[in-house]
Amino acid sequence: MKKKLLVLLFAMVFTGTSSILHAEDAIDAGKEKAAACISCHGEHGNSLVTTFPKLAGQHSSYFIKQLEAFKNGTRKNPMMSSIAAGLSHEDMANLGAYYATQKISANELPILDDDDEKPVATTTKEKNPLQEIIAQGSDLYRNGDLTREVSACIACHGPFGEGNKPAAFPSLKSQHADYLIKTLTDFKTDERSNNPDNMMHMIAKKMTIEEIKAVSYRISMMK
Ligand code: HEC
Ligand code: HEC
Repeated sequence: MKKKLLVLLFAMVFTGTSSILHAEDAIDAGKEKAAACISCHGEHGNSLVTTFPKLAGQHSSYFIKQLEAFKNGTRKNPMMSSIAAGLSHEDMANLGAYYATQKISANELPILDDDDEKPVATTTKEKNPLQEIIAQGSDLYRNGDLTREVSACIACHGPFGEGNKPAAFPSLKSQHADYLIKTLTDFKTDERSNNPDNMMHMIAKKMTIEEIKAVSYRISMMK
């Protein structure tokens, strides 16, 4: 009996370490392959160009799904399509494992465009227009808009914008506001489409451009 238990314990320890080693190998391989991504996605997946998404800290499940979509043409982008075409499934898995371990950088406070709608102050106290827009975005993120059937983002993307790995719901926190605005607009106009029942289409179509900006500013400040 004791012997059996010992054997079992050994087996558990052994398979445990071998899968850790395997994961580390995948991350190392991904780090090497990521050399081809730095020019656009930055060192450690923190891009400097704000319309190029940061990849640091993204869930590998979502990450691989996007690369597959660029490769099979269901998500279109001239830069990414040609890159994804040259990646095998193993490459994608290695890259996903590597980027998931990187830390996303924090953003500066957004700067309002001249055409940003300035919300009307609701109290007599002087209010900062940027803070108001971020508060509007925060409300939409947490509560959605029942009257117009905009779902609350928190339900799928989590209270801190951390997403959900098993469900492949992307992490959004600290993403560039400019990229978030671009990609939400792409969902709205059907420019971005991974599959016919993409839930983000229905949600983004019901949002106004002002709401897209407000929620994007809010998400870009989540840490
Ligand atoms: C020439 C610039 C360029 C290079 C090089 C590049 N990318 Fe991209 N990548 C982009 C752009 C631009 C987008 C956003 C596309 C869009 O707006 O839909 C993107 C999007 C992505 C996305 C989707 C992110 C998300 O949040 O949905 C992933 C994943 C990705 N790239 C991975 C990679 C990997 C891995 C490499 C290296 C093997 C790489 N990219 C190299 C420009 C580049
Ligand atoms: C029912 C679940 C669900 C809800 C609610 C939801 N999302 Fe999403 N979201 C998703 C899924 C799934 C994806 C990935 C879609 C894909 O694969 O293209 C996604 C993708 C995104 C992306 C693209 C991320 C990237 O890196 O390119 C953004 C931005 C986003 N959602 C913002 C929002 C906002 C803002 C709200 C609230 C107004 C919201 N989502 C509500 C499920 C949801």
